Amino acid sequence: MDPGQLPIVLLEGLISGLWLMFPAFVAGPGAVFCGGGPPIDGGRVGRDGQRLLGDGKTWRGLLGGVAVAMAVGVAQQQAQARIGHPWLSDFGTAAYGVGFLYILFLLGLGSMLGDLAKSYAKRRLGKGRGTPLPLADQLDFLLGAWLLLLLGATSFAFSSIDGAQVLLLLLVTPAMHRVTNQVGFRMGRKKEPW
Ligand code: CTP
Ligand code: MG
Repeated sequence: MDPGQLPIVLLEGLISGLWLMFPAFVAGPGAVFCGGGPPIDGGRVGRDGQRLLGDGKTWRGLLGGVAVAMAVGVAQQQAQARIGHPWLSDFGTAAYGVGFLYILFLLGLGSMLGDLAKSYAKRRLGKGRGTPLPLADQLDFLLGAWLLLLLGATSFAFSSIDGAQVLLLLLVTPAMHRVTNQVGFRMGRKKEPW
C-alpha cells in the first residue's frame, strides 16, 4: 500500500465500523428516552447493602433500547440499499447464514447488557446511581455489543470487523459519547451530562 493512502484506509475503516456498530450506539439513548417504571433489579440489594443495579436500569429502558437499535438498523439497511456506497459495508449477513434482524438484536441487547454490567460493577464499588465511572461509562455498550456479537454470530463478527477498526472505535467513542450525552442532558432527558 502507498503510505499516502493510509489516512483514507483508516477513514474507511472508521466509517464502516461506525456504520456496523451504529445500532449499538443508539441503544443507550433509546433507553434514556424510553426509560422509567419498574427497575430490573426489583429493588433488591446485594450483600453489600447496595442495590443490585439501581433505579436507573429499568425494563422499559432495556426493551426500548433494543427496539430503537433494531429500528435504526432497519433504517440503515434501507438507506444502504438506496445509496449502495462501497464504503458503507453492507452488513452482509446472508453470506454467514445469520439473519439481519438477529444481528441487530445482538447489537442492541449486547449494548444494553454492557450498560447493565457496568451499573452492577458501579454498585459493587459503592457508587450510587448516576455517579461517573470514566471510560466504563463510555465504552460499556461497545464492549457489550462486541461480546454478544462474538458469542452469537462468531464468524460474522470476525469477518465484519477487524482489529484496526476495534482500536479506532475505542479511540473515537469516548469523544462521541460526550457529545450525545450533552445533547441528552440539554434536552432534559439525562440528569448528568455523562
Ligand atoms: N435507563 C433505563 N433503563 C436502562 C438504561 C437507562 O431506564 N436499562 C434510563 C434511566 O432513566 C437512567 C437514564 O436512562 O437514569 C440514564 O442512563 P444511565 O446513564 O445509563 O444510568 P444512570 O441513571 O446514570 O445509572 P448508573 O449509575 O447505573 O449508570
Ligand atoms: Mg449514567
